[in-house]
Order: sequence, then structure tokens, then C-alpha cells
Amino acid sequence: MEELKTVIKEQGTVLPGNILKVNSFLNHQIDPELMYKVGQEFADYFKGLGITKVLTVEASGIAPAVMAGLAMKVPVVFARKSKSLVVKNDVYTAKVYSYTKQTTNHIYIEQQFLSSDDKVLIIDDFLANGEATKGLIKIADAAGAKVAGIGIVIEKTFQPGGQYLRDQGFNVLSLAQIASLDNNQVTFAN
Ligand code: G4P
Repeated sequence: MEELKTVIKEQGTVLPGNILKVNSFLNHQIDPELMYKVGQEFADYFKGLGITKVLTVEASGIAPAVMAGLAMKVPVVFARKSKSLVVKNDVYTAKVYSYTKQTTNHIYIEQQFLSSDDKVLIIDDFLANGEATKGLIKIADAAGAKVAGIGIVIEKTFQPGGQYLRDQGFNVLSLAQIASLDNNQVTFAN
């Protein structure tokens, strides 16, 4: 998606540890017009698959997921993060390790919001190691829901998540693919 790549070039900054900071339009402040177009791209690519729900994880997945849900006219469910699941009943859960933050979160979705009748589109802001996406797939599996596709705003192709998911047979669309952040430069793969 050319417009997205242009905004990344203009507004993104590279932080130590191969992190792309995009707080001006995706991770802190949100550009609704850009996110609207992101949602349209996902809806166009995944149309005709009988998707019944969009699934994401809080916080930064919510904006692109809502826009995809709006374009596809289906509900959006976001997994919540919690340090502990001791008091949670009637939920599907997965453990998600964040390499970036070096923390483990449990993510959960109330069982009433996902069922074996659902065909879900998983949306997330970043795909790096793929831990968040794997957690959402685990939750969909637990509910008996089918994963019809995975839509990612920014994939870092030099990290293994995307390759892993495609090797597993998932239909992954990444709107911007970053091949390298070396020398503080964003180099796209697509
Ligand atoms: P994953 O997203 O593929 O699971 O990889 P990883 O474990 O490395 O990511 C941990 C968190 O860091 C995730 O957000 C992910 O979206 C984010 N992340 C990974 N690489 C980058 C990057 O280059 N730039 C930015 N801005 N974020 C990155 P999270 O912990 O779920 O945070 P949030 O959604 O609450 O903001």
C-alpha cells in the first residue's frame, strides 16, 4: 500500500533494537483517514471468504481492526491482556510472550464472542515474531472458529513471524513489508 509506505518513510523513526516507531499515526496518535483506507485494503483482499468477525488484540490492533470491520460490516472482537487469569471464567486464553517488551501477557476473549460458527480475520498492527498472532490463532482454535486470513499493517520480514504463518498455510496480507531497519533506514520488501 503505497500511501502507507510513504507515511512510514516520512513519519517513522528507527529505535535501537530494530524497532520502528510509528506513534504519529498508528501506536499512539491515530490517523483515522489512513486507517480507514487500511481497513478498505483488508476488506478488498479478503472479500468473498465468508468472514463473520475480525479478531485483534489490544491496544494498537484495535484501530485497523475496527476499520476492517467497518468495511466488511462485521463485528470486531479484541483480546484483552491480563497479567493473571485467576479470576476469569468462561474465557478462551493464550499466553503471549513479547520479545520487544520481554514480558508475558495472557490474552483472553470471553467465550460468548467467538464460536465454531465464526470465520475470523485476524488483524494486527505489527507482525514481528508472530507471538501475538499465534496467540489469537490459539484462541480461535479453542473456540472452533476458522481463521480465514491474517491482515497486518506493518510486517518486519527480517523477523520470523510472517514466514512461520505462511508455512503453516495461513493467507497473510501485510500492507507494508519492511526488509531492514539497518543504519536507521527503512528499507521495504514490497
Ligand atoms: P509480535 O507482534 O509479532 O508478537 O512480535 P513481538 O513479540 O516482537 O512484539 C511485541 C510487541 O511489540 C507487540 O505489541 C508488537 O506489535 C510490537 N512491535 C514489534 N515490533 C515493533 C516495531 O518495530 N515497532 C513497534 N512500534 N511495535 C513493534 P504489543 O505488546 O501487543 O503492544 P500494543 O499493541 O499494546 O501497543
